[in-house]
Amino acid sequence: MPDPQPLLNRTAVVTGASRGLGRSIAVALARAGARVACVGRDVEKLDETARLCGPAAILAPADVSLEADVARLAAHVAEHLGPAHILVNNAGVNLRKPVTEFTLEEWRWVLDSNLTSAFLCARAFIPQMIQNGWGRILNLTSIMSHVSLPGRAAYSSSKAGLLGLTRALALELAPHHITVNGISPGPFATEMNAALMNDPQANAAFLARLPLGEWGRPDDIGALAVYLCSDQARFITGTDIVIDGGWLAQ
Ligand SMILES: NC(=O)c1ccc[n+]([C@@H]2O[C@H](COP(=O)([O-])OP(=O)(O)OC[C@H]3O[C@@H](n4cnc5c(N)ncnc54)[C@H](OP(=O)(O)O)[C@@H]3O)[C@@H](O)[C@H]2O)c1
Repeated sequence: MPDPQPLLNRTAVVTGASRGLGRSIAVALARAGARVACVGRDVEKLDETARLCGPAAILAPADVSLEADVARLAAHVAEHLGPAHILVNNAGVNLRKPVTEFTLEEWRWVLDSNLTSAFLCARAFIPQMIQNGWGRILNLTSIMSHVSLPGRAAYSSSKAGLLGLTRALALELAPHHITVNGISPGPFATEMNAALMNDPQANAAFLARLPLGEWGRPDDIGALAVYLCSDQARFITGTDIVIDGGWLAQ
């Protein structure tokens, strides 16, 4: 019989837990027994996630692109849930337009939200994992870490960078029994893709390119996250697991 609560007594931090994939991952980790810190900026939505997670979850409002917020977050988690074992760097944004139309501020916003945030959170929580003698870091990379599309210069750059960070951290942290892996989703039905899904032409074009012919559902991702955070995945590090309806197989 598989263990129904493989993450019992683990403390997990999930960024971008207020909706979408982050919410699904937070709930899946909580069901697997973890105490979950739900991180994001929209406190009302974080509260909904925390309620779905159950009594062991806490709200941890923070903008993970800001150094001071992340320092406060790490102290808040250690104080209320104990030192973190698991960090899921899921917070992210997308801005789709031709590169010549990007302002420097917009470029930095995407890079700071998707890549610098993961660096800041890793730097803040790694000491807690070393203290625990065990750790798991999951980075929500993307099929856009591997391939790209027009209009994705900033997003693809940030996600390819995140894959590089994943590999570098895996090597650096292996001696501490901390594994670091990416999860690369393909197109999932979340708010990030609402504009595409609500545009009949863009929606049809995406579905035509997707071998499985439908958008991923946020609930498709939780079990994979739980597995990668479990002891069973102890020998998996420095890699990237693609969950994309077949997009990258073409
Ligand atoms: N959906 C897809 O098709 C897809 C495909 C590949 C990769 N991904 C990646 O998967 C992750 C989740 O995507 P999603 O589709 O669930 O997106 P989403 O529905 O737009 O949710 C994004 C989450 O990130 C949080 N966030 C953004 N900037 C933040 C910041 N500076 N500080 C704290 N939280 C921040 C948002 O929370 P607040 O607004 O409350 O701060 C929200 O909870 C992202 O990294 C995305 O790039 C998604």
